[in-house]
Amino acid sequence: MEANRLSRRLFLARLGLGAAAVGAPIVFPRGAFAEELARTPPQTEGPFYPDKLPLDTDNDLLVVNDSTTPAVGEVTHLTGRILSAAGDPLRNAMVEIWQCDQNGAYLHTKTSNAERRDRNFQGFGRFLTGSKGEYYFRTIKPVPYPGRTPHIHFKIKLKGRDTLTTQCYIKGHPQNESDGIFKAIPPKDRPPLLVDWVPIRESRIGELTAKFDIVVGLTAEV
Ligand SMILES: [Fe+2]
Repeated sequence: MEANRLSRRLFLARLGLGAAAVGAPIVFPRGAFAEELARTPPQTEGPFYPDKLPLDTDNDLLVVNDSTTPAVGEVTHLTGRILSAAGDPLRNAMVEIWQCDQNGAYLHTKTSNAERRDRNFQGFGRFLTGSKGEYYFRTIKPVPYPGRTPHIHFKIKLKGRDTLTTQCYIKGHPQNESDGIFKAIPPKDRPPLLVDWVPIRESRIGELTAKFDIVVGLTAEV
């Protein structure tokens, strides 16, 4: 009995609860003991979220509508999962990405390099997650444009609400260290935003994979 009480006291002390709590029934909220995943840091939306959405907003950014000419760039299969802080996959999360084309032009009326825009690059795409919380896009490996290291913009919407806006980066890219927006992230929060672009060995056209998991810090019931 005494031993039981002692171990309980130690247990509660480890949780940071005071001795006053001993003996009282304690109801922990669901998930209180779950390991919390590091939340994906938010990042600025920037000025180039499309001011007019393309007619084609699917998850294949390399082909616009029925065009037979694909976009120019290093083909990337970009995947990841949308997770709650408890690690639960979030279904019905709308994942939006946007990025500049191989010539540094966004799908935006105020983009730089507008005259060189690759008309075959969709520039924006959407994917609704299923029960495993996974998303998939076919796109290009991001390239730098004046003032920015390569990045892909992400916006996650849950139940129609903007839940997280962020950007992912190429791990080890030399321009990361001179990018003001990247450097504004505290160093300890940067790792989840740094993504490996990995060549697919069997690919004859040099395709790449990239995996970017996103933790939005909400429960699966949102
Ligand atoms: Fe950008």
